[in-house]
Amino acid sequence: MQNLPALLLAKKRDGHRLSDAEVADLVTGIVDGSLTDAQLGALLMAGLLRGADARETAAWTREMRDSGFVYDLSAVPGAKVDKHSTGGGGDSLVLAPLAASLGVIVPMVSGRGLGHTGGTIDKLESIPGFRTDLSPDEFEALLARLGVAMSAATDRLVPADRRMYAIRDVTATVESVSWITASILSKKLAEGIEALVLDVKCGRGAFMRDLDRARELAESIASTARELGCPCRARITDMDQPLGRAVGNSLEVVEAIECLRGHGPADLREVVVVLAADMVELAGRRREREQAVRACEEALDDGTALAKFRAMVEGQGGDPAVVDDPSRLGAAACIVPVAAEAGGFVADLDPFAIAVTAVKLGAGRRVPGEAIQPQVGIVCCKKRGEAVATGETLFEVHAKSAGDAETAVAELATVITIADAPPEPRPLLLAGMG
Ligand code: URA
Repeated sequence: MQNLPALLLAKKRDGHRLSDAEVADLVTGIVDGSLTDAQLGALLMAGLLRGADARETAAWTREMRDSGFVYDLSAVPGAKVDKHSTGGGGDSLVLAPLAASLGVIVPMVSGRGLGHTGGTIDKLESIPGFRTDLSPDEFEALLARLGVAMSAATDRLVPADRRMYAIRDVTATVESVSWITASILSKKLAEGIEALVLDVKCGRGAFMRDLDRARELAESIASTARELGCPCRARITDMDQPLGRAVGNSLEVVEAIECLRGHGPADLREVVVVLAADMVELAGRRREREQAVRACEEALDDGTALAKFRAMVEGQGGDPAVVDDPSRLGAAACIVPVAAEAGGFVADLDPFAIAVTAVKLGAGRRVPGEAIQPQVGIVCCKKRGEAVATGETLFEVHAKSAGDAETAVAELATVITIADAPPEPRPLLLAGMG
């Protein structure tokens, strides 16, 4: 580092904006280790308390993007557009092949589950043989041949974020809008994309629990992306109950295949169509919104998107027969229904509590690096607003043992509220911008 770290930290602590050159110097120190953990922790806390303006947030994002390997996809013809969801639902599994089936090039580099939120990579790896450790050459070749590739982030991509995220995690500094913006966007921009669709989930199952915070994050990411030359459309979608019905890795793959067949849960399809139509429009594949929406619906209904998913599974070494026969994904040893003790309407379904129960069943990790159980999880047979009769199945628990299932059944009894009247409807699309 060229500057004295303590002087830069004092500048941030006192609420002044760091210049582009100072941010670059700090990122160098983060990557080469000359900034110590103590100094990095202090910097991150000062950044959380003082915030950063648009110019400084853009500088952090750019320098973090350039701290490691950046995909150069200029040899792949076509507009490269990706989608990022904060707090993953299973919608990427449908969205990526759907957008690609309409001519968008989708270079999707994803993460594993984080806390209670699921990870696209864990879901894909529940497909026998599916490889997510694609080399850059393999990634580019698949994009050129199929228009879609879904790979795990490697250690070489945005190394500054890996160190910053690990320290944020243990210094109570994850919740800064500027740090989240730079973290998410540096990784997306390193994919070599030309435009981005952003889906900020909002509600108890999401990172952003209230609409004001979700709006602040969406505006920050979208404006920083534009500042760095990447057009971005942002949506805020509801995550105050699970999206779709399945919570768990192979269970969500089965649900995605259903959706790609033109069936599946209505809320999952609605979100997928809105976001895929955004990608199609940003890529310039359809000019009018209505045409983009209709094209997405048709591709789901006529098998075009499913064919692209099958080709992607095969291209990445997976068993393409799962597309026609999802039972090849296997099943949990113990599948137990949870019955309603009284009839009425589902007034509330707590997505955070359901996700925590799914993690305890083995669908996610309690500690970093833990192996997950691909087939375990929960199916929510009744969603908010649906009528329930006494004795009807509210949930299906998919567990690896009877003991695990018993614990999950007891927990699930407390996560659902049944009332005499249906609740006020809550829209799925809470806001859109850009
Ligand atoms: N996801 C990320 O990649 N980074 C954050 O800071 C938060 C969520």
